[in-house]
Amino acid sequence: MNPRHFTSLLDLSSDELRHIIYRAITLKNNRARDYQPLKGQVLAMIFEKSSTRTRISFEAGMVHFGGSALFLSPRDTQLGRGEPLHDSAKVISSMVDCIMLRTDKHETVTTFAQYSSVPVINGLTDQQHPCQLLADMQTYFECRGDIKGKTVAWIGDGNNMCHSYIHAAMLLDFTLHIACPAGYQPLPEFVKAAGKHVKFFNTALEAAKNSDLCVTDVWASMGQEEEQKLREIAFRDYQINENIMNIAKNDALFMHCLPAHRGEEVTSEVIDGPQSVVFAEAENRLHAQKALLEFLLCKKEH
Ligand code: CP
Ligand code: NVA
Repeated sequence: MNPRHFTSLLDLSSDELRHIIYRAITLKNNRARDYQPLKGQVLAMIFEKSSTRTRISFEAGMVHFGGSALFLSPRDTQLGRGEPLHDSAKVISSMVDCIMLRTDKHETVTTFAQYSSVPVINGLTDQQHPCQLLADMQTYFECRGDIKGKTVAWIGDGNNMCHSYIHAAMLLDFTLHIACPAGYQPLPEFVKAAGKHVKFFNTALEAAKNSDLCVTDVWASMGQEEEQKLREIAFRDYQINENIMNIAKNDALFMHCLPAHRGEEVTSEVIDGPQSVVFAEAENRLHAQKALLEFLLCKKEH
């Protein structure tokens, strides 16, 4: 039987995504360490880019569940020396129970999934960051209840996070208001597929008006460091500051996947202010991914 993969949020149905969100909340509230559904199981984590939250949350989550995680960097494996992806996927998946991959090209994750005999999880590509959306949505549901029918404002780069927000809007039935500078829009095919769930605005203020959640991300993602100066100019009108939060609903939340650059995409007043839930959001990476691992690896029991 083909394993179930999580290369994109769209690998899940709406019901499955809601199940994982609610299960993550339950796992968070029940911190007893005697539930070990993945005893003896091994997660291989291949990181071709840096990480704090993704690495620690998957590693800790596997230990909580009675299993273990291997951290593999291209420097230490033959992947970094050009061993074909399909050979690597077949070999690694013959020895472990699940593979998490963080890389630049999205096709690397989908190719890995094609040749792997165990579930493959996208731990971030240049195109999508679905694990982060599990945590973001868990955080919204915990703070405010179901996000169906709500309005989320995405302000900044039409990047991997923005793409996964578009997918979340489709699955959970909310409206995503997007304000991005010209030349930094999300992929047109993703926007087209989302239909009425996505609306574009010319300014950050217009996008944020009456929204329930304001979200942003760094102006230059991993791998775009040399564009930093250029992007600081392009994005200077796309900062989430108090003016933006003031035009959103009174009880609007602020989220950011972190790491953040205070003074660029968000001011310190906002990210360290009362509407910000960024640290709950970061912690929820642990709980959401435990729910994901349980869903992928011991699906029948839940
Ligand atoms: N948000 C996130 O994925 O953080 P890391 O890059 O630290 O894993
Ligand atoms: N867009 C950012 C997200 C980091 C978690 C990046 O790709 O670097």
